[in-house]
Amino acid sequence: MKKIIVCDNMHNEVFNILNKADGIEVIDATSNTKEELASMLENADVAITRSPTPVNEAFLKNAKNIKAVVRAGVGVDNVDIDASSKQGVIIMNVPTANTIAAVELTMTHILSAARELPAINQQLKYENIWDRKSWYGVELKGKKLGVIGFGHIGSRVATRAKAFEMDIVAFDPYIAPSKVTSLDMTYTTNFDDILDCDFITIHTPKTKETINMITKDEIAKMKDGVRVINVARGGLLNENDLYDGLKSGKIKFAGIDVFNEEPCPNHKLFELPNVNVSPHLGANTLESQKRIAQQAADAAIQAAKGINYPNALNLPIKEDEIPEMVKPFIELTQKLGFLAAQTNKGMVKKIELCVDGEISKYANSLITFALVGALKESLGENINYVNAKFLAKDKDIEVKINTKEVSSSYKNLVSIKLATPQKSVTISGTIYDEEIQRIVKIDNFVLDVEPKGKMIIFKNKDIPGVVAKVSTILANNNINIADFRLGRGKDDALAVVVVDDNISKEIMNEVESLDFCIWASYVSI
Ligand code: 3PG
Repeated sequence: MKKIIVCDNMHNEVFNILNKADGIEVIDATSNTKEELASMLENADVAITRSPTPVNEAFLKNAKNIKAVVRAGVGVDNVDIDASSKQGVIIMNVPTANTIAAVELTMTHILSAARELPAINQQLKYENIWDRKSWYGVELKGKKLGVIGFGHIGSRVATRAKAFEMDIVAFDPYIAPSKVTSLDMTYTTNFDDILDCDFITIHTPKTKETINMITKDEIAKMKDGVRVINVARGGLLNENDLYDGLKSGKIKFAGIDVFNEEPCPNHKLFELPNVNVSPHLGANTLESQKRIAQQAADAAIQAAKGINYPNALNLPIKEDEIPEMVKPFIELTQKLGFLAAQTNKGMVKKIELCVDGEISKYANSLITFALVGALKESLGENINYVNAKFLAKDKDIEVKINTKEVSSSYKNLVSIKLATPQKSVTISGTIYDEEIQRIVKIDNFVLDVEPKGKMIIFKNKDIPGVVAKVSTILANNNINIADFRLGRGKDDALAVVVVDDNISKEIMNEVESLDFCIWASYVSI
């Protein structure tokens, strides 16, 4: 049974789905304290979390067996992705299930900031004052809306605001400008253009780059009477500077859903009449919570069973982004790494991946698979696609990538050179006809053999009788030879003997002690 722990409160659909899944045991930690959660994490294979549970060093230390974490929401600012990767933990999120909820809350805040509705409601309903003189809001029509971050949420806020006849100015250095201009909106790379807007709304993740993106300096450059909305993350807009801006009247109104520290039941901003606040409700609609719960549960089940990792954030290459032609090279690269490590046993000092041909564009992704293959021999199950680079670094292994766009002899060629203090071995392979894998070179010896099954690889002086003597040793030990491939150099040669049965240490000793043998290795894949 695989164990999935649900750490935070969420829509009951998560339990409906998890409880029905075969081979899954559910641990419900939603009503437990954080101290209790710490000990409950120990046996879990997968955790589902929301923003109240940070996935940090302490969490990872307690979650000794955890293979994956599903962040049931978008924001991963409370997830230490590097520490997770180091521990081999795959992090997934549910990136789009709450988009509309966040978009509509933003629109609610924009409209409320224009008309100050919550304060009016408060006055009439709770103070019984019928006042029609004090409340002159502004119209959205014809106003400029500055949208910072034009992703799923920001872009949809922009299209809705455009329906209100606002002029949209978008700032997002990570998108193609046409994404904005094709909607008849203005794209800018100059942040001052945003500060010149009547309304400003933030839709970026919280990163080192975005924290404090609006402070007193930016506020000073804003239009007098600007209205500012933050439904993204606390800390993007400096809270103290926002307070001063609101108090002085420079900022006419703010709508704030997120805070530096959450939960945040008290804050000096709450004393001000010109701010509307909500307690981080961006994702809180019934529809979005149900969608998040469904998608989080499905992802957790797939991850627990090792089937798939939807929306994984720390895998080397996303499954759905891998072009078909690259897929066979992923497998080949891992096999070449595995073979190189078995051929050249010992403390790995350097791994060099050379990728020639069209496939060279993917060298940065392939290196992970080369490392997993090469280090599997020494690290076993401890190495995976998430932690491979970290473990190589930890072990002081020099990792190099070389690429050539044009491969001279083959359309595409992947080579792995693995060096130990004793020697270095290079194994090269290619793919024929889109799926036939072949080792085409070992060191400088050209040959052609499928990377499959049990093989003896040996280098020898090129003298008569080599094949006969090796075959005799194998025949004497009742080992059937399935294939015998040779590559020749100037004075020496290299052979790959594919065999049907396991080769014992004793048989290898016999082969190694033949006087023409320079080195011999037994590999199996
Ligand atoms: C998110 O990042 O998805 C939202 O901020 C909501 O997060 P929460 O529902 O986990 O608090």
